[in-house]
Amino acid sequence: MSTTSADELRDEVRRRYAESARAVSEGSSPGCGSGSCCEGETDAVNFGEALYDAEQRGELPEAAARASLGCGNPVLVADLKEGETVLDLGSGGGIDVILSAKRVGEKGLAYGLDMTDEMLALARQNAQQAGVRNAIFLKGVIEEIPLPSDSIDVVISNCVINLSIEKAAVLTEIGRVLRPGGRIGISDVVAEDRLSSEERAERGSYVGCIAGALSQGEYEAGLEAAGFEQISVELTHQVADGMHGAIVKAVKTTQPVQKGLPVIQPAASAGCC
Ligand SMILES: C[S@@+](CC[C@H](N)C(=O)[O-])C[C@H]1O[C@@H](n2cnc3c(N)ncnc32)[C@H](O)[C@@H]1O
Repeated sequence: MSTTSADELRDEVRRRYAESARAVSEGSSPGCGSGSCCEGETDAVNFGEALYDAEQRGELPEAAARASLGCGNPVLVADLKEGETVLDLGSGGGIDVILSAKRVGEKGLAYGLDMTDEMLALARQNAQQAGVRNAIFLKGVIEEIPLPSDSIDVVISNCVINLSIEKAAVLTEIGRVLRPGGRIGISDVVAEDRLSSEERAERGSYVGCIAGALSQGEYEAGLEAAGFEQISVELTHQVADGMHGAIVKAVKTTQPVQKGLPVIQPAASAGCC
């Protein structure tokens, strides 16, 4: 993919999520088809706030729950402990940052990182409404995380890595910011290994979180090359033929590996939803 088309694709992703944030701020739903991973009526059960239980939703301002555009529930799988420092990649309206901040308590810290100004404004407002004081929202891209090395205990993310056009860079950056022994608990859309890039592109758009998905094998190889062990990529629910919501877990090895990353080619965009 040329630099121009990569930049254009990222701009398109940013534009779509700015639209979603504006919809939530105006009191409506980000909605399937307005730039979320969710693209149709039936997707409402596979994406967004439906993936959080009543207890978790009760901890959130209504707008934070409504802004949810994820494909899983990373806070549930990350097993957060008091005092830990957590980073949410592509934090959107802040749902997982707010829940994480409550789990790690006042001695811990929850960072949210997002590239879209409108999402950052919504997330800060939601965190304030939730009464959370140990959450910090940063502007930046997940391919170049604006945090020091070895500073994070847990990286979470909800349906964002599939949107990146430089996935190897994202995995390397996660490995860099995590402390040795740090872990990931990530929800993402993942393709079955049998699907080619073209077949993934046919099944949806990049903006819609489908065309850019890594396969299960690519995810595992990418994490191993980025210095992770105890890797598991578990497919949890089908979102399109051969494409699944998945839980990705791994631990940063205490010894950095000395090998190069494989080249992970994203599927070409099938155009936007
Ligand atoms: C599908 S939404 C998910 C939001 C949130 N994680 C949730 O579960 O509701 C994707 C979010 O990731 C952000 N995003 C997409 N690509 C990004 C990138 N390369 N760097 C930083 N943020 C990105 C978008 O601005 C948007 O807020």
